Amino acid sequence: MIWLIGNQGMLGTELALLLESQKIAFVGTDREVSILDPNALRTFVENKNIEWIINCAAYTAVDKAEDDVELCHALNAQGPENLGRLAQEIGARVLHISTDYVFSGNPLLKAGRPRPYREDDPTGPTGVYGKTKAEGERLLMAAAPTSIILRTAWLYGKHGNNFVYTMLRLMNERDTIGVVADQRGTPTWAYDLAQAILYLIALSGHSEGDVWPPAGIYHYTNEGETTWYDFAREIYRLGRQYGIITRNCDIKPLTTDQYPTKARRPAYSVLSKEKIKALGLSVPPWQESLARFIHEL
Ligand SMILES: NC(=O)c1ccc[n+]([C@@H]2O[C@H](COP(=O)([O-])OP(=O)(O)OC[C@H]3O[C@@H](n4cnc5c(N)ncnc54)[C@H](OP(=O)(O)O)[C@@H]3O)[C@@H](O)[C@H]2O)c1
Repeated sequence: MIWLIGNQGMLGTELALLLESQKIAFVGTDREVSILDPNALRTFVENKNIEWIINCAAYTAVDKAEDDVELCHALNAQGPENLGRLAQEIGARVLHISTDYVFSGNPLLKAGRPRPYREDDPTGPTGVYGKTKAEGERLLMAAAPTSIILRTAWLYGKHGNNFVYTMLRLMNERDTIGVVADQRGTPTWAYDLAQAILYLIALSGHSEGDVWPPAGIYHYTNEGETTWYDFAREIYRLGRQYGIITRNCDIKPLTTDQYPTKARRPAYSVLSKEKIKALGLSVPPWQESLARFIHEL
């Protein structure tokens, strides 16, 4: 049995729908069984034969986190540790979601050019959100060494506030919008990420003795890389094509300095996906997934 935690969030909702459509048995919870309450967690698993705990619950308000350190730390660091301890007790594995914000955003170079971050590259988060997520990774692996941590980035999906929805709304309201053009990363459709999660869990059915898929950190985003500005331009192009945007909007490139935010964003956070691809997973290009997402709207 799978236990999906955070089933009301953007990724959690997508996963719940996918589990239902594939007729995979699972139980889903959100705030009503708080990851901050070890007793509630323990009570919940009684008589349920949980084999996998998928944790999509987190504190995700990146700017608010700068003033809300305690709660952010509790949810992003202590929560995963609580789940790890419980998983060890009941012989389950945890699949936990983490973020590109664990990296500093100062790119590592290969032949003088930025290269995608690998799973074993040193972390160096700059804000509260990233620091607490990095701490959560460490505490979870210490409590439950068989866990899988999936780092992702620039997530958007049908069921929650995200960049794509914000852009579609603003582009229908304004003549001009400015979007940051000096931060590079990769958009990720929550549906694709949900598929990747279920792919990993399905592999565990084919294990031959050892823990499979191997424990540790993996990266998953869509394929390719872009800037928020070019991401916005593609949203506009597709929005116009599918009739979701009904007026002209001029999109202007901004520098990070021209668009200050409380928490600093990584200037570069492209993630290498070689490790997860070596398990046989194919990863759709971000443009293809964005087109499918907007088409389905
Ligand atoms: N969104 C992104 O761009 C992005 C990028 C990289 C990585 N990630 C990671 O991906 C994962 C999923 O993100 P998401 O955007 O789907 O998050 P989300 O929409 O914010 O969902 C998180 C869910 O956790 C719930 N929750 C809050 N406190 C809880 C508690 N004490 N116990 C149990 N559940 C609780 C939230 O409820 P409330 O809404 O009521 O608080 C919400 O339903 C997170 O680990 C996040 O760090 C996200």
